[in-house]
Amino acid sequence: MRVWRGALLGAVLAAVAALAVLAKDPYAEECRNESYPPSGPRFKGNAPVYIINLDLPPSKRWDQLINDKKVQLKTLTDTMRGIMTAFFPSGKVVHILEKELTLLSATLPYPFREEIEGIAKASGIPLGEIVMFNVFYEIFTVCTSIVAEDKTGKLYHARNLDFGLFLGWDVKNSSWTITEELRPLTVSLDFQRNNKTVFKSSNFAGYVGMVSGMKPGIFSLTMNERFSIDGGYIGIFQWILGKRDGMWMGFLTRAVLENSTSYEDAKDQLTKTKLLAPAYFILGGNRTGQGCVITRSRLSTLDIWNINTNGGPWYVLETNYDHWEDPFVLDDRRTPARRCMDRITPENISLPTIFDVLTTKPVLNKLTVSTTLISVTDSRIETYLLGCPDPCNPW
Ligand SMILES: *[C@@H]1O[C@H](CO)[C@@H](O)[C@H](O)[C@H]1NC(C)=O
Ligand SMILES: *[C@@H]1O[C@H](CO)[C@@H](O)[C@H](O)[C@H]1NC(C)=O
Ligand SMILES: *[C@@H]1O[C@H](CO)[C@@H](O)[C@H](O)[C@H]1NC(C)=O
Ligand SMILES: *[C@@H]1O[C@H](CO)[C@@H](O)[C@H](O)[C@H]1NC(C)=O
Ligand SMILES: *[C@@H]1O[C@H](CO)[C@@H](O)[C@H](O)[C@H]1NC(C)=O
Ligand SMILES: *[C@@H]1O[C@H](CO)[C@@H](O)[C@H](O)[C@H]1NC(C)=O
Repeated sequence: MRVWRGALLGAVLAAVAALAVLAKDPYAEECRNESYPPSGPRFKGNAPVYIINLDLPPSKRWDQLINDKKVQLKTLTDTMRGIMTAFFPSGKVVHILEKELTLLSATLPYPFREEIEGIAKASGIPLGEIVMFNVFYEIFTVCTSIVAEDKTGKLYHARNLDFGLFLGWDVKNSSWTITEELRPLTVSLDFQRNNKTVFKSSNFAGYVGMVSGMKPGIFSLTMNERFSIDGGYIGIFQWILGKRDGMWMGFLTRAVLENSTSYEDAKDQLTKTKLLAPAYFILGGNRTGQGCVITRSRLSTLDIWNINTNGGPWYVLETNYDHWEDPFVLDDRRTPARRCMDRITPENISLPTIFDVLTTKPVLNKLTVSTTLISVTDSRIETYLLGCPDPCNPW
């Protein structure tokens, strides 16, 4: 997998260098206004809603959803397989990797192992490919997340979900194949116990972790990938090799959404739990001051950046770079997003105005799959499928 990633990185850097010069700035635009409710060529529809019943045994919870989405899921896992086969044409490496990933599923903690096995069964897709989707998905999400507080102390949380596996540019359609294939897999989930909502999320069918979710009335949570050169993915290799003391990032966010009962408790779990890879956790609560970005390394918390109405920031905004450092020069979605946020001010911030920010190019780009808007106090979570018609940045 390391070799694959190395080759991948080389390809990415070459593509980045070639495209950046041409593509980066010309397609940036003025901050949008009055774009909500979504319509027009950027809007590709609403994510359908499914109930996931936590009272069912884990192996059965996903049956209905997967039954509806298995064709789309198969298309995507076939594409991923195809990309790997392109890197290792003999087929042997892919075969070994799949075998390893199948074995890996047996090491995943309850209820994730059971759920993933249930998904493989319901979809008829080999277990190794479902595991691959679950492992790689959380490593390759490049995103923009925002928590903001208005002048009355009400909090808003929103995110763009971009999928960053920089492979498979479709020249004819001018799009990323995997991004296009993820859009029809996007769903809004309502996790229930005793017929009552425990939490809600925006997800991809087939993925059992969480990258965006809300516990109504209590807190909201999103996760962004954090690239880290200093041994970023070593925890995942250690897990495969048998040293299993960290937690998968998307499993932690799922456990927090399912079982944490307050903003403070969620913050505590996200700050203290040992992880397999670095990440950003963006957390919002239900009252003034409850918004933060937690910058995580595998083993520790490097920084907690809080909203602070006593002279501190009224919003926190995270893409995929530490907030105290400059973003990568060829991937600066932060500066344009901040520029639009600063214009709105706490007086006019709302889910519709945040939607304006997130659908302004290049915050919106060819990797963007969807935008999710969350208001904890209104128990509201909305996910919109988005596209970025030309002219538009590839990332
Ligand atoms: C809204 O956007 C349009 C088009 O970019 C611009 O002309 C107009 O001034 C904007 N309105 C406000 C209130 O910012
Ligand atoms: C590209 O466009 C063609 C024609 O519109 C369509 O059939 C095909 O599925 C598209 N490919 C992808 C990957 O979206
Ligand atoms: C949930 O609702 C369904 C249909 O309304 C009902 O049949 C079922 O018994 C309820 N389950 C629980 C645990 O209350
Ligand atoms: C949440 O807690 C319940 C009860 O302890 C447990 O069965 C369940 O597996 C937990 N959920 C996750 C995702 O860890
Ligand atoms: C806000 O969250 C806390 C837990 O963090 C909860 O006790 C309280 O009831 C919530 N407030 C409202 C208005 O829902
Ligand atoms: C807030 O929005 C209103 C109506 O669009 C506008 O008149 C006002 O100038 C805005 N306030 C700020 C601080 O931008």
